[in-house]
Amino acid sequence: MKILLVYYTGTYNTRYLTNKLAAKLKANGHEVDSTEINRSAPVADAAGYDMIGFGYPIYGFNSPLPFNRYVSKLNICAGQKYFIYKNSGETFAINNASSRILLRRMKRRKAVFAGEYHFVMPYNIHFAFDRNFVREILDKDEKLLKILVHDIESGTAPEIKSNAAYNIASAAVSVQKIGGAVNSFLYRADDKCIKCGLCARNCPEGNIKIAGGKVKFGHRCDMCMRCSFFCPTDAIHIGFLQGWKVNGDYRLAELEAQGAPEEPYITAESGGFYKCFKKHFDEIDRRYGELFGDR
Ligand SMILES: Cc1cc2nc3c(=O)[nH]c(=O)nc-3n(C[C@H](O)[C@H](O)[C@H](O)COP(=O)(O)O)c2cc1C
Ligand code: SF4
Ligand code: SF4
Repeated sequence: MKILLVYYTGTYNTRYLTNKLAAKLKANGHEVDSTEINRSAPVADAAGYDMIGFGYPIYGFNSPLPFNRYVSKLNICAGQKYFIYKNSGETFAINNASSRILLRRMKRRKAVFAGEYHFVMPYNIHFAFDRNFVREILDKDEKLLKILVHDIESGTAPEIKSNAAYNIASAAVSVQKIGGAVNSFLYRADDKCIKCGLCARNCPEGNIKIAGGKVKFGHRCDMCMRCSFFCPTDAIHIGFLQGWKVNGDYRLAELEAQGAPEEPYITAESGGFYKCFKKHFDEIDRRYGELFGDR
């Protein structure tokens, strides 16, 4: 198949998944192109692809606004197949509603659904995940990627079921519209800033400038956290989300190379925030065992 992967990423978790997915598809003989959404990238031409894969990080139980805007401009044809690989830091059921705008749009264009997959990836906001937990997450993601490739090749199209209550709740919590606009006025770099220029170079919205020896934030912020997450001196203040800021690269490739932790991080005894992962991980293990045994 000729496959186009279209994805949005803030702190590169979705890019990590996309690169791994593309490598697996290519290894199976598919022709794969991928395109990362940002303000300066032209909209890809979707014509001629047998299948489109849509990747996005969940923001406030929704797909990111720049992702929605981009997809609305994509020339999807009737009969074209598509699948979704979304990711987020937790698996609360309300996340099941996050693709509703995309699904509606694809239905209107008479595109053919080929599956939806929810990957766990470490939080880039709220709090930093323990590195052993991230190792376990990456191990489960590897399995889920193999399941995804198997499914799209065999025509299995698993759905993630939402319902009216999740849809309404997810629409109500759409933090980005207000958040990005209001919060952008509160962004600033403090005196720990070493003027390295990394934030200005990498902002997907071109929203940061260094002028007169100062870092200046505009008001086109997507709240993607790339600037504050990767700032080498943790100098960026992110307004009302400051208490939830996560600073520092997880170094996913290094953690992946270490493999799953010796002892499972998530167990039947995991409680509180961690409780939601047990069912999710068990289901991945179950399907993986069913399809591939111990491989
Ligand atoms: C503004 C914002 C809102 C988020 N909302 C959620 C959420 O509702 N649920 C969740 O599990 N993770 C949430 N996250 C965490 C991201 O989905 C997660 O860390 C993701 O892997 C980031 O992917 P990226 O590095 O490709 O941007 C949010 C992150 C940001 C920046
Ligand atoms: S990345 Fe951090 S240290 Fe570098 S210019 Fe931006 S705010 Fe300053
Ligand atoms: S200013 Fe920071 S959080 Fe806002 S879009 Fe740019 S990199 Fe992302």
